[in-house]
Amino acid sequence: MMGAARSRRDPRHRGRRTLSTQTEPAARTSTALAVSNLEVVYRDVILVLRGVSLTVPEGKIVALLGANGAGKTTLLRAITGLLDIHRGKITKGSVHLDGRDITRDDASAIVRAGLGQVMEGRRIFAELSVDENLRTGAFTRRDKAGIQASYERAMDLFPVLQGRRKDTAGYLSGGEQQMVAIARALMAEPKILLLDEPSLGLAPLIVEQIRDIIVQVNQQGTSVLLVEQNATMALSIADTGYVLEHGRVVKDGPGKVLLEDKDIREFYLGMGDTGRRSFRDVKTYRRKKSWGA
Ligand SMILES: Nc1ncnc2c1ncn2[C@@H]1O[C@H](COP(=O)(O)OP(=O)(O)OP(=O)(O)O)[C@@H](O)[C@H]1O
Ligand SMILES: [Mg+2]
Repeated sequence: MMGAARSRRDPRHRGRRTLSTQTEPAARTSTALAVSNLEVVYRDVILVLRGVSLTVPEGKIVALLGANGAGKTTLLRAITGLLDIHRGKITKGSVHLDGRDITRDDASAIVRAGLGQVMEGRRIFAELSVDENLRTGAFTRRDKAGIQASYERAMDLFPVLQGRRKDTAGYLSGGEQQMVAIARALMAEPKILLLDEPSLGLAPLIVEQIRDIIVQVNQQGTSVLLVEQNATMALSIADTGYVLEHGRVVKDGPGKVLLEDKDIREFYLGMGDTGRRSFRDVKTYRRKKSWGA
């Protein structure tokens, strides 16, 4: 267990300078992921990301918030090399993983380079067992002992999956399926894990469990980029947060500061000066309100 955690804190992963233009004074932390001025277009015409820059420092949790259609999933697709299959293209900007330019790399090379992803909507193999799903997560690896160690680590993180190893994944509850999706991504021992709305559609108690697991994974040495609409959950554990709107970053700052931010409270938590708004009011408001306007 600790061995696996420690190896992912391997000093080789540290200290590499990135090409990003960050100018933190005497920055000792290195950058796990740097997205610079990224522009993405679908079908050659639909401009969805309009110059997005975002940094995930090594060992940190970064939250990315944004309303429906803001471009959150598109940003993750751009980072992970999955735009092609959606007829999307990066037209400007760059993505660096651990200081290395991965902007034009294909998806499997990006996984091999240390980036793990849990896609929107808990994409698991519904017909396969829990075990088989986990094994598919190690597709880039050949080291049997290492794979076994990762498997055991995943089972430690998700004790509820232990009794369900042979069960067909499609019959598990929503929360359990999300756990399978996260566990599968961890089987590649990523240096950085990207999660696209892991709390979506889950009961509050399960959301708490997922949040705690993200914290635990992070404490074991994995950097995290967490896309969420559940701002409370995401900002409560994030070192930094970004707000995306219409394909642009309109706000960023420390998670704790954003959690207290009036606009964010109003926009995501339905709590303005006038007290709690109804869900419907917030939805109408969401459509009307524009960040920075
Ligand atoms: N394959 C595609 N072709 C054309 N347009 C697309 C495609 N995928 C997404 N879009 C558009 O890009 C914009 C951003 O979509 P995206 O899925 O990235 O948003 P999101 O922030 O993840 O939203 P949600 O919270 O609903 O998941 C939307 O206007 C969407 O309609
Ligand atoms: Mg999305």
